[in-house]
Amino acid sequence: MAAAPVNSTDRGGALHFPSGFLWGAATSAYQIEGGVDVDGRGESIWDRFAAAGRARGDTGDSAADHRRRMADDVALMARLGLPAYRFSVAWPRVQPDGTAVSASGLDFYRALVDELLAHGIEPVATLYHWDLPQALEDAGGWPARDIAARFGDYAAVLGRALGDRVRRWTTINEPWCAAMLGYAAGIHAPGRTDPGAAVAAAHHLLLGHGLAVDALRAHVRAERPEIGITLNPYPVVPAGDSDGDRDAARRVDGIANRLWYDPVLRGRYPDDVLADLAPVSDLRHIRDGDLAQIARPLDALGLNYYRRHHVRHETGASASPSPWPGSPDVALIEAVGAPTSNGWAVEPAGLHESLARLDADYDHPPLYIHESGGAFPDQLQPDGRVHDGDRVAYLDAHLRACHDAIAAGIDLRGFFVWSLLDNFEWAEGYSQRFGIVHVDFATQQRTPKDSALWYRDVVHANGLGADPSPPSGDGSAS
Ligand code: FCB
Repeated sequence: MAAAPVNSTDRGGALHFPSGFLWGAATSAYQIEGGVDVDGRGESIWDRFAAAGRARGDTGDSAADHRRRMADDVALMARLGLPAYRFSVAWPRVQPDGTAVSASGLDFYRALVDELLAHGIEPVATLYHWDLPQALEDAGGWPARDIAARFGDYAAVLGRALGDRVRRWTTINEPWCAAMLGYAAGIHAPGRTDPGAAVAAAHHLLLGHGLAVDALRAHVRAERPEIGITLNPYPVVPAGDSDGDRDAARRVDGIANRLWYDPVLRGRYPDDVLADLAPVSDLRHIRDGDLAQIARPLDALGLNYYRRHHVRHETGASASPSPWPGSPDVALIEAVGAPTSNGWAVEPAGLHESLARLDADYDHPPLYIHESGGAFPDQLQPDGRVHDGDRVAYLDAHLRACHDAIAAGIDLRGFFVWSLLDNFEWAEGYSQRFGIVHVDFATQQRTPKDSALWYRDVVHANGLGADPSPPSGDGSAS
């Protein structure tokens, strides 16, 4: 589904985004909230996983202390001129044991939404960004079918509590990571390494999404609700032109991209993907009617983009657990070029490729980039600033790729920087800084980086100058 192209480049080479383009920044609950000891919050799988030392010995116990500093953080967003803020709700803060509702947990999110709206900032709520109540993992986790219904119930609780004021919802963030990194590769919580369980988890995440869409439709009363899901598609590039590499790329594309797009947007699983998964799963968890539930019509689709996957076929199965169930003989290789500080290649053109592929192959609702950003070795300088020109260049390049996509007729409606704040970066603990705002984790002092001031100008101009420009701000947003 292509939108009419926009006339968006002026003679000086500056780029303008369509009017109404939604600019924002994103975070997730476990990565920033801390406050694990309030609201009767229950244990999440990430608490358990981090406590076992699987996140470089760090935990989210304090994170960026946002649970306590929420009002200050919203005021900072307002000073940075952010029109929208994508946050996630911590399921174990709202349903500590996965069922009973914590009134004070819900009150926190009510207060957050009120504070955002009072500052003219549009809330975009994510129901699930990976912090499953440990009690539900103990009952079987995402591989067990019952969890999909639990997730639907949780969505109804949130829809009732916030649906009068929150118009934009996304059900699940990056279900590929939740299923494959959590249950197959074991490098995310809950740290299981069972490929069959990961395949069932993928299906139940999708089914939970479909049930949550119905629950939100029933309860969200805000006008023109926008309900969707957030996926993380990757352009997949074979390392060489051998048949083995090409087939490895097909299989990675199947599990990274089509395993999610096809059920959600077409109501079926791709045959080749099911065949690839057959060696590790009898697929009996897929029941009649499930795909119709999963393919409920959506109003929006969120995409998170960081990089491409470059894929090689390896002779013989890898010894370490694979995030590609049924295909232990495929491996990702690093792309060439200067990576970000967590080793990810900088590949802005891949963002446009992702959008173009989706647009060419699927009927889709309006698109949003729900995450884009990079980790860099930021240092707070003696002048009290963080001069993260590398992040400015990164964001500038990715926004140009968004603009290329829009100019090519793709219906892209918004962009959210990952992330507002430096935070707990999952298995990397606090070693990777993705924020446009620096956080000193010892003092919890916030300092907008140069990128935050640059982004404020981009948002204000609804576009980019002809050349990647240094921030014009004077640091006054701190
Ligand atoms: C994405 C996650 C987000 C963050 C970024 C760097 O996959 O959704 O929480 O960790 O990567």
